[in-house]
Amino acid sequence: MINLFKKKEKEQTKSIVLNQEKEQDNNISPESAKEMLAKGMLDSIDIIAPSAIQVEFDYLQIGGRYVRTLFVSGYPRFVSANWLAPLINFDNSLDLSMFYYPVSSKGVLDDLRRKIAEMEATINSDTEHGKVVDPGVKAALEDAKSLQDQLVKGVERFFQFSFYITIGADTLEELNSITKRVEATAGSLLLITKHASLQMEQAFQSTIPYSLDKLMITRNMDTTSLATTFPFTSSELTSTTGILYGMNMHNGSLIIFDRFSMENANTVVFAKSGAGKSYLVKLEALRSLMFGTEVIIIDPENEYERLANAVGGEYVNFSPTSGVKINPFDISGVYEEGVNELGLKILSLHTLFKILFNHEISNSEEAVLDKALVATYKLKGITADPSTQGKEPPLMEDLYKMLLTMEEEEAHALAERMERYIKGSLARIFDQRTNVNLNNSFTVFSVRDLEDQLRPIAIFLILDYIWTRIKKDLKKRILIVDEAWYLMKYPDSAQFMYGIAKRARKYYLGLTTVTQDVQDFLDTDHGKAIVTNSSIQILLKQHPAAIGSVSEVFYLSQGEKRLLLSAGIGEGIFFAGTNHVAIKVVASEEEHQLITTNPEDILKMEKGESLKKDEIDKKEQIRNLLKEEQERLKKEMKEQRDKVQEAPTDTGLVLDDTSNN
Ligand SMILES: Nc1ncnc2c1ncn2[C@@H]1O[C@H](COP(=O)(O)OP(=O)(O)OP(=O)(O)O)[C@@H](O)[C@H]1O
Ligand SMILES: [Mg+2]
Repeated sequence: MINLFKKKEKEQTKSIVLNQEKEQDNNISPESAKEMLAKGMLDSIDIIAPSAIQVEFDYLQIGGRYVRTLFVSGYPRFVSANWLAPLINFDNSLDLSMFYYPVSSKGVLDDLRRKIAEMEATINSDTEHGKVVDPGVKAALEDAKSLQDQLVKGVERFFQFSFYITIGADTLEELNSITKRVEATAGSLLLITKHASLQMEQAFQSTIPYSLDKLMITRNMDTTSLATTFPFTSSELTSTTGILYGMNMHNGSLIIFDRFSMENANTVVFAKSGAGKSYLVKLEALRSLMFGTEVIIIDPENEYERLANAVGGEYVNFSPTSGVKINPFDISGVYEEGVNELGLKILSLHTLFKILFNHEISNSEEAVLDKALVATYKLKGITADPSTQGKEPPLMEDLYKMLLTMEEEEAHALAERMERYIKGSLARIFDQRTNVNLNNSFTVFSVRDLEDQLRPIAIFLILDYIWTRIKKDLKKRILIVDEAWYLMKYPDSAQFMYGIAKRARKYYLGLTTVTQDVQDFLDTDHGKAIVTNSSIQILLKQHPAAIGSVSEVFYLSQGEKRLLLSAGIGEGIFFAGTNHVAIKVVASEEEHQLITTNPEDILKMEKGESLKKDEIDKKEQIRNLLKEEQERLKKEMKEQRDKVQEAPTDTGLVLDDTSNN
């Protein structure tokens, strides 16, 4: 009975509570309604969360993935900068977490004092008893004393450090195998790692970016040792300024670099034909231009025209018929303390004539030529005095006439050999006044339409002209010499290139030397000197025949050699000072259209089709299909609705009930 009563009572109270709840329901505040609604709905955490986490003795299974966390219990006695690089750049992705806890020096000093006293006592008692002193204790005492010294002076601070590594894999076998490799790598660094057995959950939580150290397995460290654990590794090359060169193939980071931040801004690019050298330098030119760097290019293959047109640059086609002329006798007109500008000009003219005469010029002929050159300038009123150097420079013809008036036999011989460039078949190329200028911020000089024998001469002449102009006004510039082996074939022009590389820094110029004949380039002394005068070196795919000398010059490791032999198009190694990074050159679709030399892409573009057009067409088609489908559905629904409204409805149900609202 009592029980029954009680039950009834309970039921009554229950119904009262229910009624109260109902009442509350009726006047729910909008906030709590929102909360209630949110509780019953999916949120982003529900979507990304795994269905379950299974905690095992030695690993966790999170959804379909297996993870295991190791902690570091022992550290090496000595470490150098970047010593953790092998773990940070490990082949599989790892989650590494490091915790740094500052400790007050006072407490540490007290402990140290006690510890030092203990160790000294041990050593003293050993010596008193005639025992050999334990070298381990001796070493520890030395360390402790030097640390005490540093702490007292305030040179070092004291910290505690903990380090955890979480490994992830899709299967348990994979997890075990990666764990073994991580342990081996850590072992090679003299790190003692242990599995966080029975604490896998806390260990895992300690390596997710919550900044929670749930294991607290720490090791004492002073500031210097601690600094070496910072994960700045050599294969990272991301700076805050500069342009994007590509992707880092080791860890997927971006290679952003400012070549002007190095001691010189010169670059060499070496690779076999078709490896993507020109693609890379075009990309660099385009991106540098956007950041206000002037770009000058020597283009022996007519590859840069499309790019020049797209960026509003100037494309100078240097050929007998194009009307573009450069006078080799132009003087820069800048005066530098201690530099004889005319003397330098005459030196470079000597080089030019050597190339013109195919390097067959005797010493006595050279002496006569020198005399004639000085006299020719003098006739125009130009001397070593800088104030005279603004006058109009002579032409090739003036030199020719000067040679004819000279008494020496050699002079007449030289004049005769020069004749073909003034009156003969090759006239009007090198014997006219300059009519180009470097006002545009993107200038390309093409020499493809010249005969093979004239090409090196023209490249030399253009380079000399550019160099003259560069010296005139200081600007951030990049000078790209594609297919540089045209110049490196001849010792004199090679020397000229080397001269530019050496002095470029002074004029805020970055010289880019691109070549596919790596072997020939490196065989010459000037070639090697250009490499050593280039802070940035980029190697893309190499020919097996060239890899030997390349690895000698660039000190490549076995792995790097293998990478260069098997690299795909646009893949290679980027050296900036001491940094070596594996790079993959990437361009956007728009950039690709401007710089590709792939005949298939070019044909498509020439036909007026954009490369993306196919894609756009497809998207358009899909969009149209979707639109049609939508229209059809709308129509169908409307028809059905009309039908229902027409039919007599005894329920009184109105389908389109807008009036009630
Ligand atoms: N990173 C890249 N991504 C996509 N395509 C590329 C890349 N690099 C190069 N290519 C393509 O590969 C081809 C060869 O490239 P490129 O002309 O730059 O080679 P190269 O090394 O300059 O050869 P060569 O020594 O004959 O001048 C071109 O069709 C170019 O469009
Ligand atoms: Mg090329």
